[in-house]
Amino acid sequence: MKHEFSIARPEGVKELFPGQFQIFSWLDHVVTAPGLITLVTTRKADGRPNACLHAWGMLVGGQEGYSSVLAVSRRGHTYANMVREGQWCVCIPPWRLRQECFATIQCNREDNDEITDAGLTVEEAVVVRAPRIAECPICLECQGAWDHELAAGDGNHIFVGKVIHAAFEASVLVSDLATKLERLELMCSVPCALNPLNGQWSPGMGFAKFSLWEGL
Ligand SMILES: Cc1cc2nc3c(=O)[nH]c(=O)nc-3n(C[C@H](O)[C@H](O)[C@H](O)COP(=O)(O)O)c2cc1C
Repeated sequence: MKHEFSIARPEGVKELFPGQFQIFSWLDHVVTAPGLITLVTTRKADGRPNACLHAWGMLVGGQEGYSSVLAVSRRGHTYANMVREGQWCVCIPPWRLRQECFATIQCNREDNDEITDAGLTVEEAVVVRAPRIAECPICLECQGAWDHELAAGDGNHIFVGKVIHAAFEASVLVSDLATKLERLELMCSVPCALNPLNGQWSPGMGFAKFSLWEGL
């Protein structure tokens, strides 16, 4: 049996913190789709490196180009930097660096190098001005193609950028998928779970190491 919902928030569902539903749809907490954790890097207006822990994104595309599609909050540095520079890198960090990844949020200031302050290492990109992160085994250098507000009045903006250069750590360039996943230590975030039938929430959001792989 399926429960059917209109998009209107059910009556008994209340925010966990003020303004939550301006940032996250209540539906996101019922779907609980995992999002790949990346660090989206840009340059601040003064040229200093900026990092944004990011989960609402995807990598897609075929012969006309492999692209990053990113939902970015209009309130952060990343949004302003992307609009100004039109370039960014998508760096994919391993699970063992999750604390440093979160530290990019604590180090989020106007005038600092967020990558170094979070305990990570800035690496120059090859074809874009945005910095890369040395500890990330995959870094994709992107040139902005187009962007658009997600919806009128929504706090998120969608940016699409074509990958124009890619760097891979030698250790992850293997063709055995299980070995590759073990070495990449991909991370996912999962929104905290909401039961829309009674308004109850899980204690916290999930942050998972992607590790279970079963060959088909
Ligand atoms: C698990 C997790 C996922 C996040 N995903 C995104 C995201 O997809 N887009 C975004 O704009 N912010 C996201 N954030 C929030 C940013 O990481 C945070 O606001 C950061 O400080 C923004 O940095 P900036 O001001 O340098 O852009 C996420 C935060 C967490 C903890």
